Amino acid sequence: MSQANLDQTEAPSLIIQNIRQDFITLDGTELNVLDNINLGFREREFISFIGHSGCGKSTLLRIIAGLQTPTQGSILYKGKKIKGTSAARGMVFQQDAVFPWLTVRKNIEFGLKLKKLPRDKVRAQAEKWIALVGLGGWEDAYPKELSGGMRKRVDLARVYANTPDLMLMDEPFGALDQQTKSNMQTQLLRLWETAGSTVIFVTHDLEEAVFLSDRIVVLAPRPGRVKTIMDVSLSRPRREELRLSEEFLAEKRKLHELLKEDA
Ligand SMILES: Nc1ncnc2c1ncn2[C@@H]1O[C@H](COP(=O)(O)OP(=O)(O)OP(=O)(O)O)[C@@H](O)[C@H]1O
Ligand SMILES: [Mg+2]
Repeated sequence: MSQANLDQTEAPSLIIQNIRQDFITLDGTELNVLDNINLGFREREFISFIGHSGCGKSTLLRIIAGLQTPTQGSILYKGKKIKGTSAARGMVFQQDAVFPWLTVRKNIEFGLKLKKLPRDKVRAQAEKWIALVGLGGWEDAYPKELSGGMRKRVDLARVYANTPDLMLMDEPFGALDQQTKSNMQTQLLRLWETAGSTVIFVTHDLEEAVFLSDRIVVLAPRPGRVKTIMDVSLSRPRREELRLSEEFLAEKRKLHELLKEDA
């Protein structure tokens, strides 16, 4: 479960090499936010980053997305250095990025039209993801007519419709109530299985990390660094009932112990 162990994964498709991030704060002092981050992820893995507030989870995700250039180090994806953003890397934030002036269908078609796909392909691809997120019948509704969970599903369909290789998600379900959140987690696993993309999911919810992930990267604060990597030994597909099982609670307890030491 050590960092060295992770470096030995067979053919990692995403390699995070020696990342350091410093920021200059408002009073002019230098803040070392991330230090010596080395990680490797396989294709189609579901990875979570967990750690206390301020340990640099969002910063690391933004670096992987290409939204932030690190002070030091590099990210390699399928052998190529990441520079700037790309449609191959989809990003989902806590606040959904749904356009209020567009219908559900138009929101999902938006990115596809930018890619200049033929009209019938755009329609078909949007239809597919509308059905997959369970929004059939809501195609012509506007976001203001939807619940928070439904908007989140539009957001997921919008990003997945672009068939990204890599999905980067920063606390996407943080604003949802517990029941909706659980439903969205199950939905996300279905989408992930269908799409076959690699997912990096930031959360500070232990249950969420355990339910979703193959491996959980535990980050320690000040400066943010990899403390350990926990393998989640729960089989797939993961169903709702799993949450009440002894094995699930044991994994959650293990993660709790790993995090507690930094509190
Ligand atoms: N652009 C910036 N300029 C200066 N400091 C920054 C910048 N972005 C982030 N920081 C600082 O870096 C640290 C890590 O921030 P980050 O948002 O990555 O943490 P986090 O782990 O995502 O926290 P949370 O769980 O609260 O979302 C914080 O101390 C933050 O103030
Ligand atoms: Mg954050």
